Amino acid sequence: MSVQTSNRLSMENAPVIKTNLPGPKSKQLLEVQEKLETSSRSYTTFFNFAIDYGKGSTIVDMDGNVFIDWFGGVSVMNLGHGHPAVMEALKNQVDKITHITEVPTEARIRYLKTLNSVLPGKMKDHSKVLMTVTGADACEAAVSLARYNSKKPTIIAFSGSYHGIAGGIVGATSNYHYRDYAGFPAQNYVYAPYPYPYRFNPKVAREDISKEVISRIEEMISDPYSGIPPVGGIIVEPIQGEGGYIVPPDDFLPMLRETCDKYSIPLIVDEVQSGIGRTGKLWASEYLGITPDIMCISKSIGGGVPISSIAYRSDFDQIPKAFHLGTYRGNPLGMAAGAAVLDIVKDDVFLERVRSKGRELLKRFREVADNSNIIGDVRGKGYMLGNEIVTSKKGKSPGTELAGKIRENMFRKGVLMHTCGHYGNVMRFMAPLTIEDDLLDRGMSIFEDAIRETEVGL
Ligand SMILES: Cc1ncc(COP(=O)(O)O)c(C=O)c1O
Repeated sequence: MSVQTSNRLSMENAPVIKTNLPGPKSKQLLEVQEKLETSSRSYTTFFNFAIDYGKGSTIVDMDGNVFIDWFGGVSVMNLGHGHPAVMEALKNQVDKITHITEVPTEARIRYLKTLNSVLPGKMKDHSKVLMTVTGADACEAAVSLARYNSKKPTIIAFSGSYHGIAGGIVGATSNYHYRDYAGFPAQNYVYAPYPYPYRFNPKVAREDISKEVISRIEEMISDPYSGIPPVGGIIVEPIQGEGGYIVPPDDFLPMLRETCDKYSIPLIVDEVQSGIGRTGKLWASEYLGITPDIMCISKSIGGGVPISSIAYRSDFDQIPKAFHLGTYRGNPLGMAAGAAVLDIVKDDVFLERVRSKGRELLKRFREVADNSNIIGDVRGKGYMLGNEIVTSKKGKSPGTELAGKIRENMFRKGVLMHTCGHYGNVMRFMAPLTIEDDLLDRGMSIFEDAIRETEVGL
């Protein structure tokens, strides 16, 4: 890969680790945090430092150590930290107004128009948008809307799904621990297996996986003795995020769309993590040409400011006033940033670079895997790439502890790379889409070293 020099957004020299981690100044902040903030934090155990500032795809800690950011605040910073266009939009908006509920502002109208112009398939010009605050809030609103329109209670979600942690929607999030913590049962949710080729029943041929999943779903819907009350919506991630960066077979989403049409069931496509260019298309569902009935949008849309939205077909708009509430829905700063983010990411030259670089990176991750016995599967699209760590390729046992060691090793060498997956054993690449080539090269050799060193230690 060649080194880019012009229009550079990130620090030139990353990574630079010049102190023990955490360094002395980071330690001071961490100590205060430990004293005053909840013990339920988890990211501080993965990345044990305190941050001074971010610049592009680099992060500088309190002690001047410079890290390459392949984490992006959990796939939020698709344009990197402090992108000039986002900063300008934010600064202009700060001078005008920073909070008002629902009443139109120029920022709101610009956001609505820009979002409408880039909606996938038949959604453009045939959709309404409802503002929400977080990814969970968007998914919650989407599910309520599906139920309200279908007048049926049950929502089908998938194994490995993650749609957030809030009162109702936690039922659609597959890890039952979260429901235990929240004290909410998965009321009116049932789960179908997600087509996870690497771990699907080996007796089912790869080309039959989608058919198998769809036939189980159709059974749930159509068999009056399935034990499941009538199905009023299906919520799906086009590429699973927290579940392990799992790419389903290409025929899966079109088949699911057909099933939803056949039974008049709203299809909710959750693009919270896979959207805003992450996969090299603005929306991951565009790879397969399907049109969602309801789409959930969050994370990267606000360029770091918490906003989210759902877009839904206009004929679902027969809903009461105050159908879904929240004081902070549609924050003007988030919407100003949102329009600026979309203006950049919607450009096909920008997206084509993510697609072609993504293919190159996938190839390089696969080359590392070819020389390793602990990377069982490499998958993904664009900059949403997963490396599934196993204790050995043959047995496929999840290498959860190994993945933790790789993350720690990379952190110590100056690269932030996080895990995900059913077993927390998938190393996921979610760098900003604007990351420079030299940071990809250096990050990749650090990843390779971390794999080798972890494997040698076995
Ligand atoms: C696909 C998907 N949906 C919903 C959510 C929930 O978003 P939030 O954490 O903003 O509530 C997430 C968060 O990771 C996600 O990945």
